[in-house]
Amino acid sequence: MINTNISELKEQYLFSEIGRIIKSRNDVINLSIGDVSLPLPKAVVEAGKRAASELSEKATFRGYPPESGYDFFKDAVKKYYSKKGTEIDESEIFASDGIKSDMSVFLNVLSRGKTLLPSPSYPAYVEANILRGNEIEFYDGIPYKSKADIIVICSPDNPTGRAMSRDELKEWVDYAKATGALIFYDAAYEAFVKSGAPRSIFEIEGARECAVEFCSMSKTAGFTGVRCGYTVVPKECGLNKIWSRAKSCLSNGVSYISQRMAQCALTYAYDDIMANVNYYVENARIMSNALKGAQKVGGTDSPYIWLKCGDSYAEFYKLLDIYKLGVTPGIGFGERGREYVRINSFCSREDALRAAEGLKRYLIFD
Ligand code: MLT
Repeated sequence: MINTNISELKEQYLFSEIGRIIKSRNDVINLSIGDVSLPLPKAVVEAGKRAASELSEKATFRGYPPESGYDFFKDAVKKYYSKKGTEIDESEIFASDGIKSDMSVFLNVLSRGKTLLPSPSYPAYVEANILRGNEIEFYDGIPYKSKADIIVICSPDNPTGRAMSRDELKEWVDYAKATGALIFYDAAYEAFVKSGAPRSIFEIEGARECAVEFCSMSKTAGFTGVRCGYTVVPKECGLNKIWSRAKSCLSNGVSYISQRMAQCALTYAYDDIMANVNYYVENARIMSNALKGAQKVGGTDSPYIWLKCGDSYAEFYKLLDIYKLGVTPGIGFGERGREYVRINSFCSREDALRAAEGLKRYLIFD
């Protein structure tokens, strides 16, 4: 009766396990799960209040939302893309409650097969593919000798914080097209890109034929608690109608209140949400500077710093118990993370400055 693949999962999800350990200590700065700390912009909260009060009036009450999202939401997403220089059509936008769940639902619309996952990898990709019963192969660069059904790409990457260049993405797109694979592109951290690296796979020629893009308001607009995201499924990839049909039986959509808040965040409050993103970018810069001389990636174009430091659990406990910093052991993202820890910058400025002092001391003494 039970999907036996469940037994293949680790006993606990990485961030639940690490969160529990961090909680058991006092006065620790939590730099583990990438959860935002800044409050939502006032205008976004007002939009939510207005939407809620509409639900109290007979004339403006709404029940089930359209499965793929309200037109006003899709229009806001389309304009957000346009601002970034990429044109998409409203019919290609599908509201979701976030990437983790939408990606795993999407896997169930495709037949079982082989998935290429980055190494190291965000654990939700691994576990969703295990549950689906897919074969998994990890990649470190394009595996030209392999062929798969799905390729998951995250850029800027979680956990390494690395943003792929246009040329790199073009090579992936060409490879996907040549092998008939579908790219699952996770763009959760696109708003953090400041270097000119692509913010959407659809900036790459040919990507509309072989990719779907998963997006989230969680990090872009501080919606980890509100819940709202969207998936872009271009007409050319051949899955747009299928996904639309699947959505109608697999989801009742995203709440009116969340979509009104998201609409406001992407339009009227755009400058406010970008100010919050820039605040986290500055935190990353502060902590990254404190790690000068260390072997690390990320910290620019991303809220994550991927620090090479030795056995990841040993260093995790050292940082936790001596320096009062709660990071994420790299091994939780797979074998290639064995000698790393991931540090995120979603904390307050005060905590980022304190963490930077701790990291400096850690580098000197450990
Ligand atoms: C992370 O820390 O990797 C993410 O915030 C976790 C998540 O989005 O589930």
